[in-house]
Amino acid sequence: MQAIVLVGGEGTRLRPLTFGTPKPMVPIAGVPFLARTVERLHEAGIDEVIFAAGYMPQAIVDYFGDGSAFKMKITYVIEAEPLGTAGALKNVERYIHGPFFVLNGDVLTSLDLRAMMEFHRKSGGLGVLHLIRVEDPSAFGCVVHDATGRISAFVEKPPKGSEPTDEVNAGTYLLEPSVFAMIPAGRNVSIERETFPAILVSDQRLYAYTTNDYWIDLGRPEHYLSAHRDILSGAMPLALSSDHDRSLPGEVYVEAGAHIDPTTQLGANVVVGRGCSIGARVKISDSVLWDEVVVGDDVEIESSIIASRARIGAHATIGAGTVIGHDVVIEPGTHIAPDSRIGGTAAAAR
Ligand code: GTP
Repeated sequence: MQAIVLVGGEGTRLRPLTFGTPKPMVPIAGVPFLARTVERLHEAGIDEVIFAAGYMPQAIVDYFGDGSAFKMKITYVIEAEPLGTAGALKNVERYIHGPFFVLNGDVLTSLDLRAMMEFHRKSGGLGVLHLIRVEDPSAFGCVVHDATGRISAFVEKPPKGSEPTDEVNAGTYLLEPSVFAMIPAGRNVSIERETFPAILVSDQRLYAYTTNDYWIDLGRPEHYLSAHRDILSGAMPLALSSDHDRSLPGEVYVEAGAHIDPTTQLGANVVVGRGCSIGARVKISDSVLWDEVVVGDDVEIESSIIASRARIGAHATIGAGTVIGHDVVIEPGTHIAPDSRIGGTAAAAR
């Protein structure tokens, strides 16, 4: 079976991280998120992946190559202009020869893909959409269906209080190739806003597959931190690499080769990447440091994300909710206000 993974978005909400790393490649406890997705596909018996890419595709090609290290045949199709979530599928139609999965490249979930295949085989429609229940459906695409799962309506981001359901589109689909006939070629098309509603209008069947799985969209900094919290606490089952430093107590993940002064306090919910160097009397809580970050003495960092090779000078404080981009230098003694975004430009990323 084949899967198309949508990895072409610019990830604007994760800036400045996505000025240096495309969103699907942001590290989750030290491993690019997309590698975890590819492993999950492989475990489900899928042996061929098509990456529908566009933004910073080279970072993806460099990491996965021909896919043999992942026991996966990988094809890259790179869009000159963003074609949208359905346009990107139409653009890879020539590679597809049977029912196929579509995965948003930024969804972390424990969904059982094999169980979803079985559901599709029994329901026999044009496709199946994975749904999850959320507390605030107004921020999502709501999906209405009957007791058999047959979908009757899509309601994108309904105003608060008028949501028709708490079940929302979770960004994993299993589709029949005949869906390509429903997507116009050569322009930007949204699967959520155009293609799925058009399928309902044409009276073809789409089914909902609702589960209680762990699910999070990594597209915002606060979600990225929540995902790490959930992985470290075990709420999201995910294997961590075997070579990390296990000597630290609590929900802390330090990769091998990081240097941390013994007077430094880490935790809870802290990830320190490869080759980081952290000085004396530093306090870090609820934060993710990518690789080769250098932190001077007496620094305080709370609920922040710090991209690779950034340098935080001694006595600096980094307020909660801050995101610091690749290679940024924070001068000693600087106080960074909460929720700051520091570093990078869109021009630098191209
Ligand atoms: P934001 O700019 O922060 O909204 O992020 P995004 O650009 O990634 O958009 P969004 O989160 O809505 O995208 C959902 C998934 O679809 C992500 O995995 C994107 O990489 C992917 N995606 C979005 N637009 C396109 C596109 O035009 N082409 C391709 N190939 N993928 C896309």
